[in-house]
Amino acid sequence: MTKPICLTGIKPTGMPHLGNYLGAIKPAIEMANSNQYDCFYFIADYHSLTTIHQPKLMSQYVYEVAATWLSMGLDPEKVTIYRQSDLPQIMEMNWILSCFTAKGHMNRAHAYKALSQANIDAGRDSDQGVNMGIYGYPVLMAADILFLRTNLVPVGADQLQHIEIAREIVSSFNAVYGEVLVAPEAMVQSETLIPGLDGRKMSKSYQNTIPLFLPEKKLQKLINKIKTDSLPPEAPKDPADSLIFDLYKFFSTKQQQDELAAWFKRGIGWGEAKAELFKVINAGLEQPRARYEELMANPKEIDRILEMGAEKVRPKAQEFLTKVKKATGIIC
Ligand code: ADP
Ligand code: TRP
Repeated sequence: MTKPICLTGIKPTGMPHLGNYLGAIKPAIEMANSNQYDCFYFIADYHSLTTIHQPKLMSQYVYEVAATWLSMGLDPEKVTIYRQSDLPQIMEMNWILSCFTAKGHMNRAHAYKALSQANIDAGRDSDQGVNMGIYGYPVLMAADILFLRTNLVPVGADQLQHIEIAREIVSSFNAVYGEVLVAPEAMVQSETLIPGLDGRKMSKSYQNTIPLFLPEKKLQKLINKIKTDSLPPEAPKDPADSLIFDLYKFFSTKQQQDELAAWFKRGIGWGEAKAELFKVINAGLEQPRARYEELMANPKEIDRILEMGAEKVRPKAQEFLTKVKKATGIIC
């Protein structure tokens, strides 16, 4: 029996951090391991091109992101992992779909709207710095999803609007040509937001992240930067009100958590609490870090894995694109 298709895109914009791992990477890998879906996870390099215009950075981010997923446990035999730009069929699909996309949807898409509002607030022309890639990006995202007849799309809550747009595009297209495209369902991966060093949501935009693969010393240094209050070491502390404890929970067993909670209540120095946090995070990342460094030292191996994925997808992509082109009369 064929399984439903689950697909998600990973935009390469820098080394993933603990928030990305716990909120997106870990659940996606668990989903693939559950064997309920035929999973396709791809590196969305053309999406990054909307903002990243430095060639060295672009290729570095693609490798960093691919190496992160592979070293955190993604099995390329179970998941088809590929580079978006290796499938030109997506670009053809992008154009076809854009001819069925209401311009108004793009005007309302949040990434574009936020940029344009920031320009207006700063008294600049509303389109300053806005390229057509940023403006039309929800169509490309729809093409990424629809070209494989995807059923389920795991995404962060901020992406729900884009899935809704993809569904609207399916309706417009199918209203003309019949049931050709498949309407995808979104699945919000995680409601839990991992806090960053300053207590706000961990995000690259806030520069408060703990990147996944730092040398041990650097990891320790970052953890030492976590914001704390000025209570003296002997003062009892509330684990429920501590950023250190919040992060600790994600990397420890119930028993470890009970022990640390008791130590908090007896009185723990913030330096000691941070050392405990470092220990569990470092233990969790030690093996993946070794694998990550191995892969990053051998980008040809990453290329090989991504190409293997693209080879699996290409025939499906071509076959479906032909069907779509036939529906429109572009091919008769
Ligand atoms: P960033 O905010 O650092 O730029 P992205 O927007 O690229 O992160 O997020 C990529 C994925 O990681 C999304 O699915 C998002 O929901 C998830 N994610 C990002 N930050 C967090 C966080 N602090 N906690 C949980 N999930 C997160
Ligand atoms: N836009 C998504 C993000 O910023 C990445 C992405 C691109 C994606 N194409 C996709 C996600 C298709 C799911 C499906 O995180």
